[in-house]
Amino acid sequence: MKIINTPKELSAYAKAQKDAGKSIGLVPTMGYLHDGHASLIKKSASENDVTIVSVFVNPTQFGAGEDLDSYPRDIEHDCTAAEAAGANVVFHPEPGDMYPAGYGTYVSVDSDMTKVLCGRSRPTHFRGVTTVVAKLFNISAADRAYFGQKDAQQLAVIMRMVSDLNMGIEIIPCPIVREPDGLAMSSRNTYLSPGERTQAPVLSRSLSAAKKLIDAGERDVKTLRDEISRIISCAPDADAEYIEFRSFPSLDECGGRISGKVLIALAVRFGKTRLIDNIIVNI
Ligand code: PAF
Repeated sequence: MKIINTPKELSAYAKAQKDAGKSIGLVPTMGYLHDGHASLIKKSASENDVTIVSVFVNPTQFGAGEDLDSYPRDIEHDCTAAEAAGANVVFHPEPGDMYPAGYGTYVSVDSDMTKVLCGRSRPTHFRGVTTVVAKLFNISAADRAYFGQKDAQQLAVIMRMVSDLNMGIEIIPCPIVREPDGLAMSSRNTYLSPGERTQAPVLSRSLSAAKKLIDAGERDVKTLRDEISRIISCAPDADAEYIEFRSFPSLDECGGRISGKVLIALAVRFGKTRLIDNIIVNI
């Protein structure tokens, strides 16, 4: 497996692959890879001739006072994990390679979909995500890019950007990978104290309970939200930031009743750690 550090070198590599008729899959990550990332890399490796995994803690998607400096990093582990899952290249640039002096261009999806859910408490986040993802798409010349459904709003925003800007890359959504107790895998789970970690599965437990009610015919948003809220409040350190019902991928708010493809999305704080989780149901 190759490790490439500069956009120029990755562009040259990607061009050579394209000239040789090879297809390219891209798995964008911020590193500290876990089994959720490995599932994306394996899927890309099964569908493309070449898989590029980017490992870049993107400063533009962190707001003031967020965890940019403390975000966990371990590039040696990431290279081993990426190679084991089938990657051909790890792209690991420095911030100055991606945003050199004089940098001034940003890509932003200018619609309510970036202002709701996580956009409410992280108003500049999605602009940073779409900017870096657009750059990664250009540098890698990928045919397909793989994103986890865990960040469902990010997935919807990237799909919007790709459609709006006629980017010609296929976005492949991939299922959430969970710990045995149901907690959705995330590099940020490492921030949880042992006590918080024990309580954190309330997110997935509350979503499973809602799904069970929906399977039994419940469609009323208030009833479903009350049940999710009741289960989350069983965890003494949990503080729910939002429990929302939105159509997917438009992210329009559901009225009193759910129908169609619905995202049920949660953000819950445990002390300084903010966890997100979701399910998408089709009614
Ligand atoms: O989901 C992530 O890890 C990041 O938001 C992404 C897509 C790699 C962009 O930095």
